[in-house]
Amino acid sequence: MKTGFVQFRPILGDVNANVEAIDRLVRSVEQVDLLVLPELCTTGYNFDSKEQAWELSEPIHDGTFVKHLVSLCREKKMHIVAGINERDGDKLYNSAVLVGPTGVVGKYRKLHLFMNEKDIFQPGDLGLPVFDLGWARIGLLICFDWIFPEVWRILALEGADIICHPSNLVIPGLCQRAVPINALINRMYVVTANRIGAEGDLTFTGLSTIADPNGEVIAQASPEDEEVAVVDIDVALARDKMITPRNHLINDRRPQEYRRLMEP
Ligand code: ACM
Repeated sequence: MKTGFVQFRPILGDVNANVEAIDRLVRSVEQVDLLVLPELCTTGYNFDSKEQAWELSEPIHDGTFVKHLVSLCREKKMHIVAGINERDGDKLYNSAVLVGPTGVVGKYRKLHLFMNEKDIFQPGDLGLPVFDLGWARIGLLICFDWIFPEVWRILALEGADIICHPSNLVIPGLCQRAVPINALINRMYVVTANRIGAEGDLTFTGLSTIADPNGEVIAQASPEDEEVAVVDIDVALARDKMITPRNHLINDRRPQEYRRLMEP
């Protein structure tokens, strides 16, 4: 199966230009089963105010962008994960949506809000769902979630084969180093789709990364250029949790000794 990322430079506040860029980049791929786009990919990231974020938000159910993604997926017989500024009632969520040829498969709302996001978005309230596409089980994380090891492990325990990770990373190099390690210690594929460019005092770090269950980086973009990468993956590799002939990554855990993790 083929999976990949789209790395590009969203323009803050220019949804039409961003959707046009996404359309052009997705269409540039000949054949792919699953493509991951960056966090907040239609709106940009560094909003001036909650009002600006509100004006740029849209619902996932029946939203214009999501409908556009569904028609792209139908045309190209693929699935897409995209970061979206989700409006639900009077609330905003920093969300990721998984769509395919028949519609929305599922969504995730970012659990760990970074810096000024706390003034704009509600923290996620949908837990850490895993979605089964038949050929692979998909877990979703968004950007700063990466620094919490608990979320990677929960998704592994829930059977995720591939973690799709829309991002707008700003701390140089840290996440890109952690992604292959988390892939390795959970034996999963990870696709981090980061963005490039700058907004105000934030510079986004590119280097979108795909890591395999052995912790190898099998694709990485440049720090500054628009790029689409697609690689072949073998889901069976993620389902083989044997570390040695006598050690199983999941079954050898000692959860009775991990109770501290459940306390605040
Ligand atoms: C981030 O969570 N966008 C840094």
